[in-house]
Amino acid sequence: MSVAAIPSPPALPFAGHALSVPADRQVAHLCELARTWGPIFTMSAFGEEAVLVTGLDLVAELCDERRFRKNVHSDLVNLRPLAGDGLFTAYSGEPNWRKAHDILLPAFSGTAMRGYHATMLGVARNLVRAWSRAGERPVEVSADMTRLTLDTIGLCGFGHDFESFTHAEPHPFIGALVGALSYGQAKGGFIPGLDFLYGKRTRRFHEDLRVMEGLVDEVIRQRRQSGDQSTDDLLGRMLHSTDPVTGRPLDDLNIRYQVITFLIAGHETTSGALSFALYYLVKNPAVLAKVQEEADTLWGDDEPDPGWADVGRLTYTRQVLLESLRLWPTAPAFAVEPLEDTVIGGRYPVKAGASLIVLTPALHRDPAWGRNVELFDPGRFAPDQQDARPPHAFKAFGSGERACIGRQFALHEATLVLGLLAHRFHLIDHAGYELKVKETLTLKPDGFTLLVEPRTAAD
Ligand code: HEM
Repeated sequence: MSVAAIPSPPALPFAGHALSVPADRQVAHLCELARTWGPIFTMSAFGEEAVLVTGLDLVAELCDERRFRKNVHSDLVNLRPLAGDGLFTAYSGEPNWRKAHDILLPAFSGTAMRGYHATMLGVARNLVRAWSRAGERPVEVSADMTRLTLDTIGLCGFGHDFESFTHAEPHPFIGALVGALSYGQAKGGFIPGLDFLYGKRTRRFHEDLRVMEGLVDEVIRQRRQSGDQSTDDLLGRMLHSTDPVTGRPLDDLNIRYQVITFLIAGHETTSGALSFALYYLVKNPAVLAKVQEEADTLWGDDEPDPGWADVGRLTYTRQVLLESLRLWPTAPAFAVEPLEDTVIGGRYPVKAGASLIVLTPALHRDPAWGRNVELFDPGRFAPDQQDARPPHAFKAFGSGERACIGRQFALHEATLVLGLLAHRFHLIDHAGYELKVKETLTLKPDGFTLLVEPRTAAD
């Protein structure tokens, strides 16, 4: 087959597509374009070009680690002032990636996960208590899920209690984080050479940065000052373990980057996943009834005291989460780059180092998922469906050695919480909520509220 240019939607000279992509709904816009231009098309902005890939066959090819590796695409580059060479934003081949990966991987082993369970349950109970007190007042789903996941990663990873459920307003870390992520996303549309236009936003970004660094430095200082050398959480490992290859520990700046990375990566996406799952539960009463039945079978009418192994038994609840992540992968893109000049799909030439962005919500609607890809159907993730699905059709957690290190952490936490909420509450869609997705590099339902009514033994 002869080579061909990668298709591209019509573009303006110089600005390319920059002016046609709305800053607050980039993912939605790209998914719309994918319907016409997919499975592969290019987008450009002020001379920079990226290739968007949405089709399963091409994505399967890009997941071959002998030919491709992670590319830190421009949205992630914009986060480097915040997270530097932390795990998420480290360039492929940067030495601190391998070092930190090897030091931190044991913190995500099965044994380590068991150790986090009691803490996760404690935070989940704070949420249940808050919702039990809500009465006639609707709860703000995404805000509460963010409280939960921030407190969980803070305590499990760093022994720091954000105490999010004791304050009416979100923790200042969250405000700073949302500001910084939005800036990172918007910066792609800034016109090069006209920096003065964005001075106010850039100053605000640096203020947000200072808030986050201040908190993280304080957490590290307190642990160091405590003299605690034995706590084996993420922070303990970073402070006291050495890299098996070089025999050296992580340096102080890299520890700061990693703590910020984990505070962000460890809560934003899980919070969104839980919020979408709750949205689908209230819109699909038969699915909600099945989730409740699963929890009731396990815990009866009692005040539940879920053990570690119980979470593994909530298999349908987990399917609900995975199906929610299929429709709304809360980290909606990842990018790879060819190790050398190559041809993909048998016809499209791509240069070494080019940014090839996999747009996961579009991939997750590939025809390989069946005829009705928009239908929410947790049965797609039933154990007997695993082999029926093409291997690279589900990429909510990325791919290869740079895939999500916290996948099991997220799924354990979210399954536990979803099971507990379904067991304890009637979830009432009092406002007839219509899904509106908020994009701040990650995705979450915007303005989603529920009435929650405690279930009784008679329910
Ligand atoms: C990487 C998704 C939860 C920590 C990634 C990537 C994706 C992802 C797509 C790959 C990004 C890329 O290739 O550029 C998710 C989703 C989550 C979740 C959907 C929840 C539902 C978590 C949690 C943690 C975490 C709970 C930590 C406790 C990380 C880190 C990386 C990563 C550190 C970078 C890994 C590396 O490059 O070495 N995640 N994540 N994530 N995730 Fe997650």
